[in-house]
Amino acid sequence: MLGSKLKDWDKMKDTAVESEQTKAPLGSSSRASSISFTISAILDMAASRGAIAVLLLLLLVLVAVQLEAADDDATTTHLHFFMHDIVSGSNPTAVQVIKGPASSSPTAPSLGMSFGDTTVIDDPLTETSSSTASPVVGRMQGLYMLSSQSGAVLMVTANILLTSGEYNGSTIAVIGRDDTAADVRELSVVGGTGKFRMASGYVLWKTTAMNVPDATVELDVYLAPNANNGTDIDGGGSSSGSKSSSSGGATMMTRSFGGKWVVGVAAGVLGSWWVCCC
Ligand SMILES: *[C@@H]1O[C@H](CO)[C@@H](O)[C@H](O)[C@H]1NC(C)=O
Ligand SMILES: *[C@@H]1O[C@H](CO)[C@@H](O)[C@H](O)[C@H]1NC(C)=O
Repeated sequence: MLGSKLKDWDKMKDTAVESEQTKAPLGSSSRASSISFTISAILDMAASRGAIAVLLLLLLVLVAVQLEAADDDATTTHLHFFMHDIVSGSNPTAVQVIKGPASSSPTAPSLGMSFGDTTVIDDPLTETSSSTASPVVGRMQGLYMLSSQSGAVLMVTANILLTSGEYNGSTIAVIGRDDTAADVRELSVVGGTGKFRMASGYVLWKTTAMNVPDATVELDVYLAPNANNGTDIDGGGSSSGSKSSSSGGATMMTRSFGGKWVVGVAAGVLGSWWVCCC
Protein backbone atom coordinates (compact mmCIF):
# COMPACT_ATOMS: atom_id res chain seq x y z
CA MET A 1 0.00 0.00 0.00
CA LEU A 2 2.88 2.31 0.84
CA GLY A 3 4.32 1.56 -2.59
CA SER A 4 1.07 2.16 -4.41
CA LYS A 5 0.59 5.46 -2.56
CA LEU A 6 4.00 6.60 -3.73
CA LYS A 7 3.08 5.62 -7.27
CA ASP A 8 -0.17 7.61 -6.99
CA TRP A 9 1.80 10.58 -5.79
CA ASP A 10 4.17 10.20 -8.72
CA LYS A 11 1.23 10.01 -11.12
CA MET A 12 -0.05 13.29 -9.68
CA LYS A 13 3.40 14.76 -10.10
CA ASP A 14 3.47 13.53 -13.68
CA THR A 15 0.16 15.23 -14.39
CA ALA A 16 1.41 18.42 -12.79
CA VAL A 17 4.59 18.33 -14.79
CA GLU A 18 2.64 17.63 -17.95
CA SER A 19 0.15 20.45 -17.48
CA GLU A 20 2.98 22.80 -16.62
CA GLN A 21 4.87 22.05 -19.78
CA THR A 22 1.73 21.53 -21.92
CA LYS A 23 2.40 18.47 -24.00
CA ALA A 24 5.82 17.97 -22.52
CA PRO A 25 8.44 16.24 -24.49
CA LEU A 26 8.75 12.55 -23.64
CA GLY A 27 11.84 13.10 -21.52
CA SER A 28 10.29 14.77 -18.43
CA SER A 29 7.50 12.24 -17.92
CA SER A 30 9.82 9.29 -18.18
CA ARG A 31 12.14 10.87 -15.59
CA ALA A 32 9.28 10.91 -13.05
CA SER A 33 8.50 7.26 -13.77
CA SER A 34 12.06 6.27 -13.16
CA ILE A 35 12.03 7.99 -9.72
CA SER A 36 8.92 6.03 -8.82
CA PHE A 37 10.57 2.81 -9.95
CA THR A 38 13.66 3.48 -7.83
CA ILE A 39 11.65 4.14 -4.64
CA SER A 40 9.61 0.94 -5.10
CA ALA A 41 12.77 -1.02 -5.70
CA ILE A 42 14.39 0.36 -2.53
CA LEU A 43 11.32 -0.48 -0.50
CA ASP A 44 11.22 -4.00 -1.87
CA MET A 45 14.91 -4.53 -1.29
CA ALA A 46 15.23 -2.90 2.13
CA ALA A 47 12.92 -5.23 3.91
CA SER A 48 10.15 -7.66 3.38
CA ARG A 49 6.78 -6.41 4.49
CA GLY A 50 6.77 -8.89 7.36
CA ALA A 51 9.91 -7.34 8.81
CA ILE A 52 8.38 -3.86 8.63
CA ALA A 53 5.30 -5.16 10.42
CA VAL A 54 7.38 -6.66 13.23
CA LEU A 55 9.38 -3.46 13.63
CA LEU A 56 6.23 -1.38 13.68
CA LEU A 57 4.64 -3.62 16.29
CA LEU A 58 7.77 -3.48 18.45
CA LEU A 59 7.87 0.30 18.23
CA LEU A 60 4.23 0.68 19.19
CA VAL A 61 4.55 -1.71 22.14
CA LEU A 62 7.54 0.32 23.37
CA VAL A 63 5.49 3.50 23.13
CA ALA A 64 2.68 1.81 25.06
CA VAL A 65 5.10 0.75 27.80
CA GLN A 66 6.44 4.30 28.04
CA LEU A 67 2.94 5.74 28.33
CA GLU A 68 2.01 3.18 30.96
CA ALA A 69 5.13 3.96 33.01
CA ALA A 70 4.28 7.65 32.90
CA ASP A 71 0.75 6.81 34.01
CA ASP A 72 1.86 5.02 37.16
CA ASP A 73 1.88 8.37 38.94
CA ALA A 74 -1.39 9.42 37.37
CA THR A 75 -4.00 8.06 39.72
CA THR A 76 -7.31 9.60 40.50
CA THR A 77 -8.45 9.40 44.11
CA HIS A 78 -12.09 8.60 44.71
CA LEU A 79 -13.69 8.95 48.13
CA HIS A 80 -17.25 7.97 48.84
CA PHE A 81 -19.38 8.89 51.85
CA PHE A 82 -22.83 9.71 53.09
CA MET A 83 -23.39 13.02 54.83
CA HIS A 84 -26.08 13.35 57.47
CA ASP A 85 -27.52 16.84 57.76
CA ILE A 86 -29.61 16.79 60.93
CA VAL A 87 -31.55 19.98 61.66
CA SER A 88 -34.33 18.59 63.84
CA GLY A 89 -34.24 17.00 67.27
CA SER A 90 -32.18 17.74 70.34
CA ASN A 91 -28.80 16.94 68.72
CA PRO A 92 -28.75 18.91 65.49
CA THR A 93 -25.58 18.91 63.37
CA ALA A 94 -26.89 21.83 61.31
CA VAL A 95 -27.94 25.08 62.99
CA GLN A 96 -29.44 28.12 61.33
CA VAL A 97 -27.39 31.18 62.26
CA ILE A 98 -28.84 33.78 59.88
CA LYS A 99 -32.49 34.23 59.09
CA GLY A 100 -33.07 35.93 55.75
CA PRO A 101 -35.69 38.67 55.49
CA ALA A 102 -38.34 36.10 54.65
CA SER A 103 -41.59 37.21 53.11
CA SER A 104 -44.81 35.45 54.02
CA SER A 105 -43.97 32.51 51.78
CA PRO A 106 -40.60 30.73 51.93
CA THR A 107 -38.39 30.85 48.83
CA ALA A 108 -37.70 27.13 49.01
CA PRO A 109 -40.54 25.27 50.73
CA SER A 110 -38.87 21.97 49.75
CA LEU A 111 -36.02 22.86 52.12
CA GLY A 112 -38.06 24.91 54.59
CA MET A 113 -35.75 27.83 53.82
CA SER A 114 -35.95 31.39 52.55
CA PHE A 115 -33.55 33.58 50.64
CA GLY A 116 -30.57 34.50 52.81
CA ASP A 117 -31.09 31.77 55.40
CA THR A 118 -27.70 30.50 56.47
CA THR A 119 -26.89 27.31 58.34
CA VAL A 120 -23.67 26.21 59.97
CA ILE A 121 -22.97 22.49 59.71
CA ASP A 122 -20.81 19.91 61.40
CA ASP A 123 -22.34 16.90 59.67
CA PRO A 124 -21.02 13.38 60.25
CA LEU A 125 -19.79 11.43 57.21
CA THR A 126 -20.29 7.68 57.16
CA GLU A 127 -19.45 4.81 54.87
CA THR A 128 -23.03 3.65 54.36
CA SER A 129 -26.31 5.53 54.21
CA SER A 130 -27.20 4.57 57.77
CA SER A 131 -26.01 7.17 60.27
CA THR A 132 -26.23 4.71 63.16
CA ALA A 133 -25.04 1.38 61.74
CA SER A 134 -21.92 2.81 60.14
CA PRO A 135 -18.94 4.42 61.91
CA VAL A 136 -18.24 8.11 61.42
CA VAL A 137 -15.19 8.48 59.14
CA GLY A 138 -15.18 12.23 58.78
CA ARG A 139 -17.14 15.47 59.08
CA MET A 140 -18.41 18.15 56.76
CA GLN A 141 -17.78 21.43 58.52
CA GLY A 142 -18.86 24.74 57.07
CA LEU A 143 -22.05 26.43 56.00
CA TYR A 144 -24.75 26.61 53.39
CA MET A 145 -26.84 29.61 52.47
CA LEU A 146 -29.98 29.85 50.36
CA SER A 147 -28.59 32.05 47.62
CA SER A 148 -31.30 32.02 44.98
CA GLN A 149 -34.30 34.34 45.03
CA SER A 150 -36.38 31.92 43.03
CA GLY A 151 -35.37 28.37 43.85
CA ALA A 152 -33.98 25.85 46.29
CA VAL A 153 -30.36 26.63 45.48
CA LEU A 154 -27.68 26.64 48.15
CA MET A 155 -24.22 28.11 48.19
CA VAL A 156 -22.08 25.54 50.01
CA THR A 157 -18.68 26.26 51.45
CA ALA A 158 -17.22 23.63 53.73
CA ASN A 159 -14.24 21.49 54.67
CA ILE A 160 -14.33 17.74 54.64
CA LEU A 161 -12.28 16.54 57.60
CA LEU A 162 -11.22 12.91 57.51
CA THR A 163 -11.09 11.37 60.98
CA SER A 164 -9.97 7.83 60.32
CA GLY A 165 -7.71 5.70 58.18
CA GLU A 166 -4.63 6.88 56.34
CA TYR A 167 -6.20 10.29 55.64
CA ASN A 168 -6.97 11.00 59.31
CA GLY A 169 -6.52 14.73 59.96
CA SER A 170 -6.39 15.74 56.30
CA THR A 171 -9.01 18.09 54.88
CA ILE A 172 -10.60 18.81 51.51
CA ALA A 173 -11.99 22.28 50.76
CA VAL A 174 -15.31 22.25 48.92
CA ILE A 175 -17.20 25.16 47.44
CA GLY A 176 -20.08 25.18 45.04
CA ARG A 177 -23.63 25.65 43.93
CA ASP A 178 -26.08 23.07 45.18
CA ASP A 179 -29.22 23.20 43.07
CA THR A 180 -31.27 20.84 45.20
CA ALA A 181 -33.84 20.39 42.42
CA ALA A 182 -31.24 18.54 40.33
CA ASP A 183 -30.66 14.84 40.81
CA VAL A 184 -26.88 15.12 40.95
CA ARG A 185 -25.02 18.34 41.61
CA GLU A 186 -21.36 19.06 40.99
CA LEU A 187 -19.35 21.12 43.43
CA SER A 188 -15.68 22.08 43.23
CA VAL A 189 -12.77 20.85 45.29
CA VAL A 190 -10.60 23.94 45.54
CA GLY A 191 -7.83 22.75 47.81
CA GLY A 192 -6.90 20.67 50.79
CA THR A 193 -4.43 20.02 53.57
CA GLY A 194 -2.24 17.14 54.69
CA LYS A 195 -2.58 14.21 52.30
CA PHE A 196 -4.80 16.44 50.18
CA ARG A 197 -2.48 19.43 50.03
CA MET A 198 -2.93 21.22 46.66
CA ALA A 199 -5.94 19.02 45.90
CA SER A 200 -8.20 19.83 43.00
CA GLY A 201 -11.22 17.99 41.74
CA TYR A 202 -14.95 17.83 42.13
CA VAL A 203 -17.68 16.37 44.30
CA LEU A 204 -20.85 14.75 43.01
CA TRP A 205 -23.60 15.55 45.47
CA LYS A 206 -26.80 13.52 45.52
CA THR A 207 -29.65 13.60 48.02
CA THR A 208 -30.59 10.03 48.92
CA ALA A 209 -33.11 10.75 51.67
CA MET A 210 -35.04 13.91 52.47
CA ASN A 211 -37.11 14.20 55.59
CA VAL A 212 -37.52 17.97 55.76
CA PRO A 213 -35.59 19.57 57.23
CA ASP A 214 -33.17 16.62 57.62
CA ALA A 215 -31.32 15.17 54.65
CA THR A 216 -28.88 12.41 53.74
CA VAL A 217 -26.53 13.24 50.90
CA GLU A 218 -24.29 10.83 49.00
CA LEU A 219 -20.91 12.30 48.13
CA ASP A 220 -18.46 11.08 45.49
CA VAL A 221 -15.22 13.03 45.71
CA TYR A 222 -12.83 12.81 42.75
CA LEU A 223 -9.34 14.26 43.13
CA ALA A 224 -6.83 14.82 40.38
CA PRO A 225 -3.43 13.11 40.74
CA ASN A 226 -1.46 15.01 43.31
CA ALA A 227 2.22 14.42 43.93
CA ASN A 228 2.43 17.26 46.43
CA ASN A 229 0.94 15.44 49.39
CA GLY A 230 1.78 13.41 52.46
CA THR A 231 4.01 16.02 54.09
CA ASP A 232 3.16 16.93 57.67
CA ILE A 233 3.47 20.56 58.67
CA ASP A 234 5.59 19.55 61.67
CA GLY A 235 8.10 18.18 59.21
CA GLY A 236 7.54 14.64 60.41
CA GLY A 237 6.72 13.90 56.82
CA SER A 238 4.93 10.63 56.45
CA SER A 239 5.92 9.21 53.11
CA SER A 240 3.56 9.24 50.19
CA GLY A 241 0.17 7.69 50.72
CA SER A 242 -0.39 4.15 49.61
CA LYS A 243 -2.31 3.56 46.44
CA SER A 244 -5.51 2.18 47.78
CA SER A 245 -6.99 1.76 51.15
CA SER A 246 -10.23 1.05 52.86
CA SER A 247 -8.64 0.96 56.28
CA GLY A 248 -11.16 1.89 58.92
CA GLY A 249 -12.75 4.50 56.76
CA ALA A 250 -14.88 5.33 53.86
CA THR A 251 -14.35 3.37 50.69
CA MET A 252 -11.20 4.91 49.32
CA MET A 253 -10.01 3.80 45.95
CA THR A 254 -7.44 4.97 43.52
CA ARG A 255 -7.73 4.02 39.93
CA SER A 256 -4.88 3.47 37.58
CA PHE A 257 -5.62 3.82 33.93
CA GLY A 258 -4.30 0.81 31.99
CA GLY A 259 -6.21 1.88 28.90
CA LYS A 260 -3.18 3.16 27.00
CA TRP A 261 -1.71 -0.35 26.98
CA VAL A 262 -4.76 -1.59 25.18
CA VAL A 263 -4.74 1.32 22.75
CA GLY A 264 -1.02 0.88 22.03
CA VAL A 265 -1.21 -2.84 21.37
CA ALA A 266 -4.38 -2.46 19.29
CA ALA A 267 -2.66 0.21 17.20
CA GLY A 268 0.32 -2.14 16.76
CA VAL A 269 -1.84 -5.01 15.58
CA LEU A 270 -3.81 -2.73 13.27
CA GLY A 271 -0.58 -1.23 11.93
CA SER A 272 0.90 -4.65 11.18
CA TRP A 273 -2.26 -5.73 9.44
CA TRP A 274 -2.24 -2.54 7.39
CA VAL A 275 1.35 -3.08 6.28
CA CYS A 276 0.89 -6.80 5.52
CA CYS A 277 -2.49 -6.95 4.00
CA CYS A 278 -3.31 -3.65 2.33
C1 LIG B 1 -7.01 10.48 64.13
O1 LIG B 1 -6.12 11.50 64.56
C2 LIG B 1 -6.44 12.03 65.85
C3 LIG B 1 -5.53 13.22 66.08
O2 LIG B 1 -4.22 12.95 65.70
C4 LIG B 1 -6.30 10.94 66.88
O3 LIG B 1 -6.62 11.44 68.17
C5 LIG B 1 -7.26 9.81 66.54
O4 LIG B 1 -7.08 8.73 67.42
C6 LIG B 1 -7.03 9.33 65.11
N1 LIG B 1 -8.10 8.41 64.78
C7 LIG B 1 -7.87 7.26 64.14
C8 LIG B 1 -9.06 6.42 63.91
O5 LIG B 1 -6.77 6.93 63.73
C1 LIG C 1 -0.10 11.26 47.05
O1 LIG C 1 1.12 11.05 46.37
C2 LIG C 1 1.35 9.73 46.00
C3 LIG C 1 2.73 9.61 45.38
O2 LIG C 1 3.15 10.79 44.82
C4 LIG C 1 0.25 9.27 45.04
O3 LIG C 1 0.46 7.92 44.67
C5 LIG C 1 -1.10 9.41 45.74
O4 LIG C 1 -2.13 9.07 44.85
C6 LIG C 1 -1.29 10.85 46.21
N1 LIG C 1 -2.54 10.96 46.95
C7 LIG C 1 -3.46 11.87 46.65
C8 LIG C 1 -4.62 11.90 47.57
O5 LIG C 1 -3.37 12.62 45.70
